[in-house]
Order: sequence, then C-alpha cells, then structure tokens
Amino acid sequence: MAWITENRRTEVLERRSEPYLTDALKDYFARKYFPRYPTKRAVLLPALHAIQHTYNWIPPQAMEEIAAFLELAPAEVMDTATFYEEYWLKPKGEFLIQVCRSLSCEICDSAKLTDHCKQKLGIEPFETTDDGRFTLVELECLGACGTAPVALINDVLHENLTVETLDQLIEKLPKHAHDYKDPEIGWNDSDLPHH
Ligand code: FES
Repeated sequence: MAWITENRRTEVLERRSEPYLTDALKDYFARKYFPRYPTKRAVLLPALHAIQHTYNWIPPQAMEEIAAFLELAPAEVMDTATFYEEYWLKPKGEFLIQVCRSLSCEICDSAKLTDHCKQKLGIEPFETTDDGRFTLVELECLGACGTAPVALINDVLHENLTVETLDQLIEKLPKHAHDYKDPEIGWNDSDLPHH
C-alpha cells in the first residue's frame, strides 16, 4: 500500500473569527465531562464527538481550540482525531451512507448496494454530493453479519438490505439529519448547546 502524505507544514488553514469551541460548549464540557474524569485530557474523545455533532465535521481550527482548552498540544489532538475513522476531518454530507463491504455482506451482494448508491447519487465512495446532502462510504464489518447485507445511514443500522429497500430508505430520508435518529443507539446530542 502506498503511503498517503499530507503537507501539514506549509498548509494554510482556513480560519474564521468566531471560535468553534464556543463558551457554551466549554461550559457544557466543564459541567458534563470534567467531573467524570481525573484529567482534562481524558475529555478529548467526547470533545471531538461534540464538535463533530455540532458542525458535522472537525475543522482544524476547532482542534487547536480543543487543544488549548484541554491543555494539550495541537499535535496530540490531531493524532487522536486522525486515528479514529469515525472522526471526519473534512466536511461530509448531512447523511452519511456507509455500506459494509466485509465478507458476509460481500457474499450477500453488498457491491450492488454500493453501485446503486454511486449511480443514484452520482458520487464515488468518500465523495459528497454537490448539494452537501449525501456522503457515501464503504466500511468494514459492522457486527451484524447474520443480517447481511447491512448499511448505516448516519447512526441508524439497516439490515437485510436489497437495492430496492435501500433506494426507498434514501428516498424517504427527512430534510434534516436531526430528524433521523434511532432513539436506542448513537450519540445523544439532545443536551448539546446550539451554535
Ligand atoms: Fe457486514 Fe459483518 S460483514 S456486518
């Protein structure tokens, strides 16, 4: 596999004057998470989650602000954020369609699901539609092999899929992602401060 290198030394980061880590978010972390952990650095993962669920991705400027707030080096925040695939370091669509491509799903024709999404949405895996509504991803086993093939749409798992049922699911998605949740699972952001 070829190494993917990124120019982080001379790259110019896009910045905005308003902070991503707002006072309301800082207050939220201090109230909700600081009492739970012995150190501030232990709050890094939930802080990254909260930023992602607030802005739908984690901008570099937000990583710097989290670093300052949690008394970490920015490189430590970036190390963590780049380690986990769940964190998005570039903007993604409002709806993230993730089709499992591991063995059980592959045997059950998951490639047909991905091909249908590619054709329907006009994008390749890891691309986002021009209107910012959909991002398509192929990912590894979701632990639901008994009901393959499966796909996640945001935090909601869909099992025993066919091209037809996946097509209907996409057609019936609401206008906004916050109206599309599985109450039993996923990140609970109901108490996150609005930005
Ligand atoms: Fe798809 Fe396990 S192979 S859920």
